Amino acid sequence: MTDPTAAAAQANLKRVRTRHFQSAKENGIKITGLTSYDQLSAEIFDQAGIDFLLVGDSAGNNVFGHDTTLPVTVDELIPLTRAVAGAVTRAFVVADMPFGSYETGPDEALHTAFRFMKETHAHAVKLEGGIRSAEQIRRIVSAGIPVMAHIGFTPQSEHGLGGHIIQGRGEGAEQLLADAHAVEDAGAFAVVLEMVPSQVAERVTAELRIPTIGVGAGPHVDGQLLVWTDWAGFTTGRIPKFVKRYANLSGILTDAVAAYRADVESGSYPGPEHEYED
Ligand code: KIV
Repeated sequence: MTDPTAAAAQANLKRVRTRHFQSAKENGIKITGLTSYDQLSAEIFDQAGIDFLLVGDSAGNNVFGHDTTLPVTVDELIPLTRAVAGAVTRAFVVADMPFGSYETGPDEALHTAFRFMKETHAHAVKLEGGIRSAEQIRRIVSAGIPVMAHIGFTPQSEHGLGGHIIQGRGEGAEQLLADAHAVEDAGAFAVVLEMVPSQVAERVTAELRIPTIGVGAGPHVDGQLLVWTDWAGFTTGRIPKFVKRYANLSGILTDAVAAYRADVESGSYPGPEHEYED
């Protein structure tokens, strides 16, 4: 049950912090997240009260024009994360650690986390993997840096997993639970569950003390996260089943660009109101 007083307090927060993720879970208040990769979208989402913004390595597909997140580097994500962190006043900003920036061990993971915290002013980092990333999470958290974990379908392992495949089905549920407990024990303040059956996500959510954030994990989780370009209908290709489109940005821009071109070609833009006087 949602406590209305706690819900009002959450909405009025000056700055979302990790303890508010925890209190949201305890009070039955759903946490809302979106990805963002730039200042303008971050400002809009922050003003609208989105609790957290993830500067995801999904920038690979949404900014840099790759097919996967794998080629994205720390050096590419740092300026995007800095732009997002600099644009918000209330939202909690999470920097995604890209493929190849933490897997060799806790030292490499801490080095990357330091770079994000010092060079971008993000409030936390995120990395993929359950049991296999637990030592990395433990080391980063012990340096005072909050970590959002990410289990289930982990896009950086898409080739190892054999494609965009739902995780945690059948016997996979026990593995997912073991991963969830491992990241909680390692000190993560929240865990993303990507593309897992609703019933399994519900079980993980009930067993964990920390909040679960679903990306295609159904309604029985503590919060939701979507890639903003999918959510706003900016993405033109195929989008996953779990995405609900809240706008048709690609349609709006297509119409706008057609109108602009027609105006330029007909000479009706620029009009007198757009001219400077001598
Ligand atoms: O990079 C990203 O956008 C993500 C989310 C899909 C969880 O990792």
